Amino acid sequence: MKVGILGGGQLGRMLLQAAANYDLTTYVLEKDPNCPAAHLCHHFSEGDILDYDTVYQFGKQLDALTIEIEAVNVDALTQLEKEGVKIYPTPSAIRTIKNKIAQKQFYADNAIPTSNFVITHSVNEIHKHLSLLPAVHKLAEGGYDGKGVQVIEDEKAIALGFDAPAVLEEKVSIVKELALIVGMNAKGETVIFPPAEMVFDQVYNLLDYQLSPAKIEEKQLWKAEAIARKVVQSLKSPGLFAIELFVDQNGEIFVNETAPRVHNSGHHSIEANYCSQYDMLLRIILDYPLGNPAPILPSAIVNLIGAEGYSGEVVYEGLDEVLKMENVFVHLYGKTTTKPGRKMGHVTIMSNDYQDLTHKANKIKHTLKVISK
Ligand SMILES: Nc1ncnc2c1ncn2[C@@H]1O[C@H](COP(=O)(O)OP(=O)(O)O)[C@@H](O)[C@H]1O
Ligand SMILES: [Mg+2]
Repeated sequence: MKVGILGGGQLGRMLLQAAANYDLTTYVLEKDPNCPAAHLCHHFSEGDILDYDTVYQFGKQLDALTIEIEAVNVDALTQLEKEGVKIYPTPSAIRTIKNKIAQKQFYADNAIPTSNFVITHSVNEIHKHLSLLPAVHKLAEGGYDGKGVQVIEDEKAIALGFDAPAVLEEKVSIVKELALIVGMNAKGETVIFPPAEMVFDQVYNLLDYQLSPAKIEEKQLWKAEAIARKVVQSLKSPGLFAIELFVDQNGEIFVNETAPRVHNSGHHSIEANYCSQYDMLLRIILDYPLGNPAPILPSAIVNLIGAEGYSGEVVYEGLDEVLKMENVFVHLYGKTTTKPGRKMGHVTIMSNDYQDLTHKANKIKHTLKVISK
């Protein structure tokens, strides 16, 4: 079977690492010939995943196609689907998720709990919705890694908003942020990974530190699982999805956003779960039985982010020390240059003891630094 991936970042790279266990030929389309996934696939194509003809020509030769980023040409995928190429997630699911207005509307239409919102087209329009403040303004399209998300605390901060189509949603008093990964196969059977719990870096808005399974009450776990399943069943698309959730002060759960692909919150599943998120997606694409998402041991993820003040050829300071630690797994994404805030790799820690996880995560954060020559 010929399986293609649109996008060649670290998610594509880890998907290819899992694909090496199966009998398939892999294809990657991406602009940058030195991207993390370029050297792990059988066939690399240099090209723009947002361009209709490029995506269409790339997809025509394949049996199945998946994505590792939502910013792709959905029209080309729709045409390929019509012509019989298996596109997981479906182009229609990608279209819904890709645009934050369409995504929020989808939650509302399917009675999926999400924070109250209105749609805005200009900064000035925010003045009409003062009762929603404090709120979060989110660009409908084009935002990534926290860019395109702006907190509007009060009337005085309105000028910070976006002068383009956007969602204005009530700010949730977040106690915990969770992510649940759900897989669904062509028969509509679902499988759900234990939730991951995260802490964010205030400066870069990138995921900073993560624990899985999350420490939450049984009742919240049921709610979170039911909501995550409902999202995927309502999308009616085979594939693998990550559902980001907020738990608020009252224990209420809201969907923040969904990613129709393997997700940074699931990196730990490579070592810490019987079936990884990458293996799960491949099983779904190849029509194999679903895997076992149960954890082997609790785990933590520390992201390796380019340090402030360093740009250029990357150096991983303190790597030896971290490699000496027990039950610690280092993943470097093969990016040759670093810059402040760039995701360069991650480290997974496994332990039965959450205190040990936290302790080791902090140690790694202070020992391993992504700097330049
Ligand atoms: N409605 C909200 N209330 C409070 N915090 C929010 C809200 N929406 C987003 N955030 C915060 O901003 C972060 C980034 O927002 P998100 O919509 O997930 O954008 P991105 O596409 O950058 O991941 C969230 O992880 C959360 O910490
Ligand atoms: Mg997010």
